[in-house]
Amino acid sequence: MAATAQLIDRFQRAGQGQVFAFFDQLTPAEQQNLLSEAGEIDLAEVEQLNRTLVAKTAGAVGVDLEGLAPAPYELLPANGGDAAAWAAAKQTGEAALRAGRVAAFTVAGGQGTRLGYDGPKGTFRVTPVKQKSLFQIFAEKILAAGNRYGQPLHWFIMTSHQNHVATEAFFGEHNHFGLDRARVHFFRQGRMPAVSFEGKILLETKSSLALSPDGHGGSLRALARSGALDVMERAGIDTLSYFQVDNPLVRAIDPAFIGWHLIKRSELTSKMVPKAYAEEKVGHFCTQRGKLIVVEYSDLPMAIQRETDAAGKLRYLAGSVAIHMLDRDFIRRMGQSAGDAGVALPFHRADKKIPTVDATGAAVKPEKANGVKFEMFVFDALPFATNPLVIEARRADDFSPVKNADGLDSPKTCREDQLRQFARWLVANGVSLPTDATGLPAITGEVSPWFGYDEDSFAASWAACAVKPAIVDGYYLT
Ligand code: UTP
Repeated sequence: MAATAQLIDRFQRAGQGQVFAFFDQLTPAEQQNLLSEAGEIDLAEVEQLNRTLVAKTAGAVGVDLEGLAPAPYELLPANGGDAAAWAAAKQTGEAALRAGRVAAFTVAGGQGTRLGYDGPKGTFRVTPVKQKSLFQIFAEKILAAGNRYGQPLHWFIMTSHQNHVATEAFFGEHNHFGLDRARVHFFRQGRMPAVSFEGKILLETKSSLALSPDGHGGSLRALARSGALDVMERAGIDTLSYFQVDNPLVRAIDPAFIGWHLIKRSELTSKMVPKAYAEEKVGHFCTQRGKLIVVEYSDLPMAIQRETDAAGKLRYLAGSVAIHMLDRDFIRRMGQSAGDAGVALPFHRADKKIPTVDATGAAVKPEKANGVKFEMFVFDALPFATNPLVIEARRADDFSPVKNADGLDSPKTCREDQLRQFARWLVANGVSLPTDATGLPAITGEVSPWFGYDEDSFAASWAACAVKPAIVDGYYLT
Protein backbone atom coordinates (compact mmCIF):
# COMPACT_ATOMS: atom_id res chain seq x y z
CA MET A 1 0.00 0.00 0.00
CA ALA A 2 1.31 3.47 -0.81
CA ALA A 3 2.35 5.58 2.17
CA THR A 4 -0.65 7.89 1.78
CA ALA A 5 -3.16 5.06 1.74
CA GLN A 6 -1.41 3.48 4.70
CA LEU A 7 -1.64 6.64 6.76
CA ILE A 8 -5.31 7.14 5.94
CA ASP A 9 -5.95 3.51 6.75
CA ARG A 10 -4.27 3.88 10.15
CA PHE A 11 -6.49 6.83 10.97
CA GLN A 12 -9.58 4.91 9.87
CA ARG A 13 -8.71 1.91 11.97
CA ALA A 14 -8.15 4.20 14.97
CA GLY A 15 -11.64 5.65 14.47
CA GLN A 16 -10.16 8.96 13.25
CA GLY A 17 -11.07 8.68 9.57
CA GLN A 18 -13.03 11.98 9.76
CA VAL A 19 -9.69 13.76 9.40
CA PHE A 20 -9.71 12.81 5.72
CA ALA A 21 -13.41 13.54 5.10
CA PHE A 22 -12.63 16.23 2.52
CA PHE A 23 -9.40 14.77 1.20
CA ASP A 24 -10.73 14.19 -2.32
CA GLN A 25 -11.77 17.84 -2.65
CA LEU A 26 -8.30 19.20 -1.81
CA THR A 27 -5.57 20.45 -4.14
CA PRO A 28 -2.38 18.36 -4.15
CA ALA A 29 -0.64 20.97 -1.96
CA GLU A 30 -3.50 20.93 0.54
CA GLN A 31 -3.46 17.14 0.57
CA GLN A 32 0.25 17.24 1.28
CA ASN A 33 -0.28 19.63 4.18
CA LEU A 34 -2.93 17.45 5.76
CA LEU A 35 -0.86 14.33 5.31
CA SER A 36 2.20 15.88 6.86
CA GLU A 37 0.21 17.12 9.88
CA ALA A 38 -1.47 13.73 10.24
CA GLY A 39 1.94 12.09 10.07
CA GLU A 40 2.94 14.03 13.21
CA ILE A 41 0.14 12.53 15.28
CA ASP A 42 0.81 9.74 17.71
CA LEU A 43 -2.51 7.91 17.41
CA ALA A 44 -1.78 5.59 20.32
CA GLU A 45 -1.16 8.61 22.54
CA VAL A 46 -4.42 10.25 21.41
CA GLU A 47 -6.25 7.00 22.09
CA GLN A 48 -4.80 6.82 25.56
CA LEU A 49 -5.64 10.47 26.33
CA ASN A 50 -9.17 9.91 25.08
CA ARG A 51 -9.53 7.01 27.45
CA THR A 52 -8.02 8.69 30.50
CA LEU A 53 -8.97 12.34 30.09
CA VAL A 54 -11.81 12.76 27.60
CA ALA A 55 -14.09 9.80 28.27
CA LYS A 56 -14.48 10.85 31.91
CA THR A 57 -16.04 14.23 32.53
CA ALA A 58 -13.71 16.67 34.23
CA GLY A 59 -15.65 16.57 37.52
CA ALA A 60 -15.54 12.79 37.69
CA VAL A 61 -11.76 12.60 37.70
CA GLY A 62 -10.99 12.03 41.36
CA VAL A 63 -8.13 14.05 42.78
CA ASP A 64 -5.94 12.12 45.18
CA LEU A 65 -5.63 14.18 48.36
CA GLU A 66 -4.34 11.44 50.63
CA GLY A 67 -1.37 12.47 52.72
CA LEU A 68 -1.35 15.97 51.30
CA ALA A 69 0.50 18.61 53.32
CA PRO A 70 1.77 22.12 52.67
CA ALA A 71 5.27 22.11 51.16
CA PRO A 72 8.12 23.57 53.23
CA TYR A 73 9.99 26.50 51.72
CA GLU A 74 12.93 28.78 52.47
CA LEU A 75 11.52 31.89 54.10
CA LEU A 76 12.83 35.31 53.17
CA PRO A 77 14.94 36.87 55.92
CA ALA A 78 12.27 39.53 56.39
CA ASN A 79 9.81 36.76 57.28
CA GLY A 80 12.10 34.87 59.64
CA GLY A 81 14.40 33.13 57.16
CA ASP A 82 18.13 32.66 57.71
CA ALA A 83 19.77 35.88 56.50
CA ALA A 84 23.26 34.34 56.43
CA ALA A 85 22.03 31.47 54.26
CA TRP A 86 20.41 33.94 51.84
CA ALA A 87 23.60 35.95 51.68
CA ALA A 88 25.59 32.79 50.96
CA ALA A 89 23.10 31.80 48.27
CA LYS A 90 23.48 35.18 46.62
CA GLN A 91 27.25 34.86 46.59
CA THR A 92 27.08 31.39 45.11
CA GLY A 93 24.67 32.60 42.43
CA GLU A 94 26.91 35.53 41.58
CA ALA A 95 29.89 33.23 41.24
CA ALA A 96 27.90 30.97 38.89
CA LEU A 97 26.96 34.00 36.79
CA ARG A 98 30.57 35.12 36.59
CA ALA A 99 31.51 31.61 35.53
CA GLY A 100 28.91 31.65 32.73
CA ARG A 101 27.01 28.64 34.10
CA VAL A 102 23.54 30.19 33.85
CA ALA A 103 21.26 31.00 30.90
CA ALA A 104 17.85 32.62 30.71
CA PHE A 105 14.88 30.68 29.38
CA THR A 106 11.54 32.17 28.36
CA VAL A 107 8.51 30.09 27.48
CA ALA A 108 6.70 32.07 24.81
CA GLY A 109 4.75 29.43 22.96
CA GLY A 110 1.34 30.13 24.50
CA GLN A 111 -1.59 31.37 22.47
CA GLY A 112 -2.46 34.29 24.74
CA THR A 113 -6.14 33.93 23.98
CA ARG A 114 -7.28 35.73 27.12
CA LEU A 115 -5.34 38.88 26.28
CA GLY A 116 -6.78 38.84 22.77
CA TYR A 117 -3.71 40.48 21.22
CA ASP A 118 -2.84 39.72 17.64
CA GLY A 119 0.80 38.69 17.58
CA PRO A 120 3.34 36.89 19.77
CA LYS A 121 2.65 37.92 23.37
CA GLY A 122 6.28 38.91 23.86
CA THR A 123 5.79 41.74 21.37
CA PHE A 124 3.03 43.27 23.55
CA ARG A 125 4.01 46.70 24.92
CA VAL A 126 3.77 47.09 28.67
CA THR A 127 6.04 49.73 30.18
CA PRO A 128 4.54 52.98 31.50
CA VAL A 129 6.57 55.58 29.59
CA LYS A 130 8.52 54.02 26.73
CA GLN A 131 5.95 51.36 25.93
CA LYS A 132 8.61 48.70 25.70
CA SER A 133 7.60 45.22 24.68
CA LEU A 134 7.88 42.26 27.04
CA PHE A 135 10.73 40.86 24.93
CA GLN A 136 12.61 44.17 25.10
CA ILE A 137 12.37 44.27 28.90
CA PHE A 138 13.77 40.75 29.24
CA ALA A 139 16.48 41.46 26.67
CA GLU A 140 17.59 44.53 28.62
CA LYS A 141 17.54 42.68 31.94
CA ILE A 142 19.65 39.91 30.43
CA LEU A 143 22.08 42.38 28.89
CA ALA A 144 22.38 44.35 32.09
CA ALA A 145 22.97 41.21 34.19
CA GLY A 146 25.58 40.06 31.69
CA ASN A 147 27.38 43.37 32.08
CA ARG A 148 27.13 43.27 35.84
CA TYR A 149 28.74 39.85 36.10
CA GLY A 150 31.17 40.30 33.23
CA GLN A 151 29.77 37.37 31.32
CA PRO A 152 27.20 37.81 28.54
CA LEU A 153 24.27 35.44 28.97
CA HIS A 154 22.66 33.07 26.54
CA TRP A 155 18.89 33.33 26.17
CA PHE A 156 16.68 30.46 25.08
CA ILE A 157 13.21 31.29 23.84
CA MET A 158 10.57 28.67 23.22
CA THR A 159 8.08 29.60 20.52
CA SER A 160 5.20 27.72 18.92
CA HIS A 161 4.52 26.78 15.32
CA GLN A 162 2.06 29.69 15.18
CA ASN A 163 4.38 32.43 16.44
CA HIS A 164 7.92 31.25 15.66
CA VAL A 165 8.44 33.18 12.42
CA ALA A 166 6.84 36.35 13.78
CA THR A 167 8.93 36.14 16.96
CA GLU A 168 12.21 35.79 15.10
CA ALA A 169 11.21 38.60 12.74
CA PHE A 170 10.48 40.87 15.71
CA PHE A 171 13.94 40.30 17.15
CA GLY A 172 15.44 40.87 13.70
CA GLU A 173 13.59 44.18 13.30
CA HIS A 174 14.95 45.33 16.64
CA ASN A 175 18.50 44.19 16.09
CA HIS A 176 18.01 41.68 18.89
CA PHE A 177 17.81 44.66 21.28
CA GLY A 178 21.59 44.81 21.32
CA LEU A 179 22.11 41.19 22.32
CA ASP A 180 24.67 39.08 20.55
CA ARG A 181 22.38 37.19 18.16
CA ALA A 182 24.58 34.11 18.46
CA ARG A 183 23.48 33.92 22.08
CA VAL A 184 19.74 34.13 21.40
CA HIS A 185 18.29 30.72 20.60
CA PHE A 186 14.74 30.22 19.36
CA PHE A 187 13.13 26.83 19.10
CA ARG A 188 9.59 25.59 18.58
CA GLN A 189 7.67 23.53 21.06
CA GLY A 190 5.70 20.45 20.10
CA ARG A 191 2.01 20.45 19.29
CA MET A 192 -0.95 18.25 20.00
CA PRO A 193 -4.22 17.70 18.17
CA ALA A 194 -7.44 18.93 19.75
CA VAL A 195 -10.34 16.48 19.93
CA SER A 196 -14.11 16.78 20.19
CA PHE A 197 -15.83 15.68 23.40
CA GLU A 198 -16.26 12.34 21.60
CA GLY A 199 -12.52 12.02 21.19
CA LYS A 200 -12.46 12.72 17.45
CA ILE A 201 -9.47 14.71 16.18
CA LEU A 202 -10.81 18.07 14.96
CA LEU A 203 -10.06 19.70 11.64
CA GLU A 204 -9.37 23.42 11.72
CA THR A 205 -10.02 23.67 7.99
CA LYS A 206 -10.71 21.00 5.40
CA SER A 207 -6.97 20.65 4.85
CA SER A 208 -5.49 21.18 8.31
CA LEU A 209 -5.82 19.72 11.78
CA ALA A 210 -6.67 21.72 14.89
CA LEU A 211 -3.20 21.61 16.41
CA SER A 212 -2.09 23.58 19.45
CA PRO A 213 1.07 23.92 21.57
CA ASP A 214 1.60 21.08 24.04
CA GLY A 215 1.78 23.31 27.14
CA HIS A 216 4.74 24.90 28.95
CA GLY A 217 5.59 21.40 30.18
CA GLY A 218 6.42 20.67 26.55
CA SER A 219 9.46 22.88 27.08
CA LEU A 220 11.44 20.03 28.62
CA ARG A 221 11.21 17.78 25.61
CA ALA A 222 11.48 20.71 23.21
CA LEU A 223 14.75 21.78 24.89
CA ALA A 224 16.05 18.27 24.42
CA ARG A 225 14.78 17.70 20.86
CA SER A 226 15.81 21.10 19.53
CA GLY A 227 19.43 20.65 20.51
CA ALA A 228 19.23 23.51 23.03
CA LEU A 229 20.67 21.26 25.74
CA ASP A 230 23.65 20.51 23.53
CA VAL A 231 24.19 24.22 22.98
CA MET A 232 24.12 24.66 26.76
CA GLU A 233 26.56 21.85 27.28
CA ARG A 234 29.03 23.20 24.74
CA ALA A 235 28.83 26.64 26.34
CA GLY A 236 29.37 25.27 29.85
CA ILE A 237 25.84 26.16 31.00
CA ASP A 238 24.29 23.81 33.54
CA THR A 239 21.49 25.95 34.98
CA LEU A 240 18.47 27.46 33.27
CA SER A 241 16.48 30.35 34.71
CA TYR A 242 12.89 29.72 33.56
CA PHE A 243 10.22 32.42 33.36
CA GLN A 244 7.06 33.19 31.43
CA VAL A 245 6.81 35.69 28.64
CA ASP A 246 3.88 37.51 30.24
CA ASN A 247 5.59 38.57 33.49
CA PRO A 248 7.76 41.68 33.05
CA LEU A 249 8.41 42.06 36.78
CA VAL A 250 10.28 38.77 37.03
CA ARG A 251 13.88 38.87 38.22
CA ALA A 252 15.00 37.04 35.13
CA ILE A 253 18.46 36.64 36.60
CA ASP A 254 18.31 36.38 40.38
CA PRO A 255 21.59 35.43 42.09
CA ALA A 256 20.06 34.26 45.38
CA PHE A 257 17.61 32.02 43.55
CA ILE A 258 20.43 30.52 41.47
CA GLY A 259 22.52 30.08 44.59
CA TRP A 260 19.83 28.26 46.58
CA HIS A 261 19.37 25.91 43.66
CA LEU A 262 23.08 25.16 43.44
CA ILE A 263 23.83 24.95 47.15
CA LYS A 264 20.98 22.51 47.76
CA ARG A 265 21.98 20.46 44.71
CA SER A 266 18.42 20.79 43.54
CA GLU A 267 17.42 19.69 40.06
CA LEU A 268 14.36 21.93 40.08
CA THR A 269 13.85 24.93 42.33
CA SER A 270 10.70 27.04 42.28
CA LYS A 271 9.73 30.40 43.67
CA MET A 272 6.58 30.72 45.71
CA VAL A 273 4.77 33.86 46.72
CA PRO A 274 2.36 33.88 49.65
CA LYS A 275 -1.19 33.75 48.32
CA ALA A 276 -2.88 37.15 48.42
CA TYR A 277 -6.07 35.58 49.80
CA ALA A 278 -7.30 32.05 50.48
CA GLU A 279 -9.19 31.62 47.22
CA GLU A 280 -6.51 33.04 44.93
CA LYS A 281 -6.41 31.02 41.71
CA VAL A 282 -2.84 29.75 41.78
CA GLY A 283 -1.23 26.34 42.04
CA HIS A 284 -0.30 25.30 45.58
CA PHE A 285 3.06 23.81 46.53
CA CYS A 286 2.36 20.67 48.53
CA THR A 287 4.00 17.44 49.56
CA GLN A 288 2.48 14.03 49.16
CA ARG A 289 4.08 10.67 49.91
CA GLY A 290 7.48 12.28 50.18
CA LYS A 291 7.23 14.13 46.86
CA LEU A 292 6.95 17.83 46.12
CA ILE A 293 3.99 18.60 43.87
CA VAL A 294 1.87 21.50 42.70
CA VAL A 295 -1.87 21.08 43.13
CA GLU A 296 -4.00 23.36 41.02
CA TYR A 297 -6.58 25.50 42.79
CA SER A 298 -9.31 23.76 40.82
CA ASP A 299 -8.23 20.42 42.32
CA LEU A 300 -7.94 21.61 45.91
CA PRO A 301 -11.20 21.70 47.87
CA MET A 302 -12.05 25.18 49.08
CA ALA A 303 -12.06 24.02 52.71
CA ILE A 304 -8.39 23.05 52.36
CA GLN A 305 -7.50 26.29 50.59
CA ARG A 306 -8.99 28.17 53.53
CA GLU A 307 -7.37 26.13 56.32
CA THR A 308 -5.37 28.17 58.81
CA ASP A 309 -2.84 27.26 61.47
CA ALA A 310 -2.98 28.13 65.17
CA ALA A 311 -1.65 31.61 64.42
CA GLY A 312 -4.39 32.20 61.86
CA LYS A 313 -2.02 31.98 58.88
CA LEU A 314 -3.13 30.11 55.76
CA ARG A 315 -1.71 26.58 55.84
CA TYR A 316 -1.58 26.28 52.06
CA LEU A 317 0.08 29.64 51.57
CA ALA A 318 2.69 28.84 48.94
CA GLY A 319 1.39 29.92 45.54
CA SER A 320 3.20 28.91 42.37
CA VAL A 321 4.21 31.77 40.08
CA ALA A 322 5.88 29.77 37.30
CA ILE A 323 9.45 30.85 38.04
CA HIS A 324 11.93 28.00 38.18
CA MET A 325 15.59 27.08 38.11
CA LEU A 326 16.30 23.93 36.13
CA ASP A 327 19.31 21.66 36.01
CA ARG A 328 20.45 20.77 32.49
CA ASP A 329 20.89 17.04 33.09
CA PHE A 330 17.48 16.88 34.73
CA ILE A 331 15.92 18.44 31.64
CA ARG A 332 17.72 15.89 29.52
CA ARG A 333 16.33 13.07 31.62
CA MET A 334 12.81 14.48 31.53
CA GLY A 335 13.03 15.38 27.86
CA GLN A 336 13.58 11.86 26.65
CA SER A 337 10.50 10.06 25.46
CA ALA A 338 9.05 7.63 27.97
CA GLY A 339 10.17 4.76 25.73
CA ASP A 340 13.80 5.80 26.12
CA ALA A 341 13.66 5.37 29.88
CA GLY A 342 12.64 9.01 30.22
CA VAL A 343 9.70 9.96 32.41
CA ALA A 344 6.81 11.49 30.54
CA LEU A 345 4.95 14.39 32.09
CA PRO A 346 1.22 13.78 32.33
CA PHE A 347 -1.16 15.65 30.04
CA HIS A 348 -3.97 17.81 31.39
CA ARG A 349 -7.31 18.41 29.78
CA ALA A 350 -8.46 21.93 28.87
CA ASP A 351 -11.93 22.44 27.42
CA LYS A 352 -11.73 25.22 24.82
CA LYS A 353 -13.51 26.90 21.94
CA ILE A 354 -11.80 25.35 18.96
CA PRO A 355 -12.44 26.78 15.49
CA THR A 356 -13.33 23.89 13.21
CA VAL A 357 -15.48 22.89 10.20
CA ASP A 358 -18.94 21.33 10.04
CA ALA A 359 -19.99 18.26 8.06
CA THR A 360 -20.12 20.29 4.85
CA GLY A 361 -16.66 21.75 5.44
CA ALA A 362 -17.96 25.23 6.34
CA ALA A 363 -15.99 27.12 9.03
CA VAL A 364 -17.44 27.01 12.56
CA LYS A 365 -16.48 29.56 15.24
CA PRO A 366 -17.85 28.02 18.42
CA GLU A 367 -19.55 30.20 21.05
CA LYS A 368 -18.76 27.76 23.83
CA ALA A 369 -16.22 25.03 24.42
CA ASN A 370 -16.57 22.36 21.76
CA GLY A 371 -13.53 20.24 22.42
CA VAL A 372 -10.46 19.40 24.41
CA LYS A 373 -6.84 20.49 24.16
CA PHE A 374 -4.04 18.54 25.81
CA GLU A 375 -1.28 20.34 27.68
CA MET A 376 1.67 19.45 29.88
CA PHE A 377 2.66 21.65 32.83
CA VAL A 378 6.27 22.22 33.76
CA PHE A 379 5.65 22.01 37.50
CA ASP A 380 4.61 18.37 37.04
CA ALA A 381 8.34 17.71 36.78
CA LEU A 382 8.82 18.53 40.49
CA PRO A 383 8.12 15.02 41.84
CA PHE A 384 10.75 13.61 39.47
CA ALA A 385 13.49 15.99 40.58
CA THR A 386 16.22 15.17 43.06
CA ASN A 387 16.27 17.59 46.02
CA PRO A 388 13.47 19.82 44.69
CA LEU A 389 13.27 23.10 46.54
CA VAL A 390 10.86 25.99 47.01
CA ILE A 391 12.04 29.44 48.03
CA GLU A 392 9.98 32.44 48.99
CA ALA A 393 9.78 35.56 46.83
CA ARG A 394 8.00 38.85 47.29
CA ARG A 395 5.21 39.18 44.78
CA ALA A 396 6.08 42.84 44.31
CA ASP A 397 9.60 41.87 43.23
CA ASP A 398 8.76 39.06 40.88
CA PHE A 399 5.23 38.66 39.69
CA SER A 400 2.68 40.73 37.82
CA PRO A 401 1.61 38.86 34.71
CA VAL A 402 -0.39 40.19 31.79
CA LYS A 403 -3.05 37.55 31.25
CA ASN A 404 -6.34 39.34 30.61
CA ALA A 405 -7.37 42.32 28.51
CA ASP A 406 -8.80 43.98 31.62
CA GLY A 407 -9.49 43.35 35.30
CA LEU A 408 -7.12 41.10 37.21
CA ASP A 409 -3.62 40.54 35.75
CA SER A 410 -4.18 42.98 32.91
CA PRO A 411 -1.97 45.59 31.20
CA LYS A 412 -3.33 48.14 33.71
CA THR A 413 -2.49 46.15 36.85
CA CYS A 414 0.92 45.27 35.44
CA ARG A 415 1.69 48.89 34.58
CA GLU A 416 0.75 49.94 38.11
CA ASP A 417 2.91 47.21 39.63
CA GLN A 418 5.86 48.43 37.56
CA LEU A 419 5.25 51.98 38.83
CA ARG A 420 5.11 50.70 42.41
CA GLN A 421 8.37 48.82 41.95
CA PHE A 422 10.20 51.86 40.53
CA ALA A 423 8.79 53.99 43.35
CA ARG A 424 9.99 51.51 45.99
CA TRP A 425 13.50 51.54 44.56
CA LEU A 426 13.57 55.34 44.46
CA VAL A 427 12.23 55.74 47.98
CA ALA A 428 14.70 53.14 49.30
CA ASN A 429 17.46 55.34 47.89
CA GLY A 430 16.27 58.49 49.58
CA VAL A 431 13.95 60.04 46.99
CA SER A 432 10.79 61.51 48.36
CA LEU A 433 7.96 60.30 46.18
CA PRO A 434 4.34 60.47 47.37
CA THR A 435 2.39 57.25 46.91
CA ASP A 436 -1.07 56.07 47.84
CA ALA A 437 -1.71 53.35 50.43
CA THR A 438 -0.95 50.64 47.85
CA GLY A 439 2.44 52.17 47.03
CA LEU A 440 1.27 53.58 43.71
CA PRO A 441 3.08 56.86 43.03
CA ALA A 442 1.23 59.97 41.96
CA ILE A 443 3.54 60.42 38.96
CA THR A 444 4.31 58.16 36.06
CA GLY A 445 7.85 57.17 35.21
CA GLU A 446 10.06 54.34 34.15
CA VAL A 447 13.37 52.78 35.10
CA SER A 448 15.19 51.06 32.27
CA PRO A 449 16.71 47.68 33.16
CA TRP A 450 19.95 49.29 32.01
CA PHE A 451 19.74 51.56 35.03
CA GLY A 452 18.35 48.98 37.43
CA TYR A 453 16.72 45.58 37.06
CA ASP A 454 16.58 44.79 40.76
CA GLU A 455 17.15 46.54 44.10
CA ASP A 456 20.91 46.05 44.03
CA SER A 457 21.58 47.16 40.49
CA PHE A 458 19.29 50.15 40.95
CA ALA A 459 21.05 51.19 44.15
CA ALA A 460 24.45 50.88 42.47
CA SER A 461 23.41 53.06 39.51
CA TRP A 462 21.73 55.62 41.76
CA ALA A 463 24.81 55.87 43.95
CA ALA A 464 26.94 56.37 40.84
CA CYS A 465 24.90 59.41 39.71
CA ALA A 466 26.96 62.41 40.84
CA VAL A 467 23.97 64.63 40.09
CA LYS A 468 20.75 62.87 40.97
CA PRO A 469 18.16 62.96 38.17
CA ALA A 470 14.94 64.86 38.82
CA ILE A 471 12.06 62.51 39.50
CA VAL A 472 9.14 64.32 37.89
CA ASP A 473 6.16 63.12 35.93
CA GLY A 474 7.32 61.20 32.85
CA TYR A 475 10.86 60.58 34.19
CA TYR A 476 12.92 57.91 32.49
CA LEU A 477 16.10 56.55 34.08
CA THR A 478 18.51 54.79 31.78
P1 UTP B 1 -0.69 30.59 30.00
O1 UTP B 1 -1.08 29.43 30.80
O2 UTP B 1 -1.03 31.92 30.55
O3 UTP B 1 -1.31 30.41 28.55
O4 UTP B 1 0.85 30.51 29.71
P2 UTP B 1 -1.31 31.36 27.28
O5 UTP B 1 -1.47 30.42 26.14
O6 UTP B 1 -0.14 32.28 27.22
O7 UTP B 1 -2.59 32.27 27.46
P3 UTP B 1 -4.13 31.90 27.33
O8 UTP B 1 -4.41 30.89 28.39
O9 UTP B 1 -4.35 31.39 25.93
O10 UTP B 1 -4.80 33.20 27.58
C1 UTP B 1 1.80 30.76 30.67
C2 UTP B 1 3.15 30.83 30.01
O11 UTP B 1 3.45 29.59 29.41
C3 UTP B 1 3.72 29.77 28.04
C4 UTP B 1 3.05 31.07 27.66
O12 UTP B 1 3.65 31.63 26.50
C5 UTP B 1 3.27 31.88 28.90
O13 UTP B 1 4.59 32.39 28.93
N1 UTP B 1 3.17 28.62 27.29
C6 UTP B 1 1.92 28.20 27.53
C7 UTP B 1 3.97 28.03 26.35
O14 UTP B 1 5.13 28.43 26.12
N2 UTP B 1 3.45 26.98 25.66
C8 UTP B 1 2.21 26.51 25.86
O15 UTP B 1 1.81 25.54 25.19
C9 UTP B 1 1.41 27.13 26.83
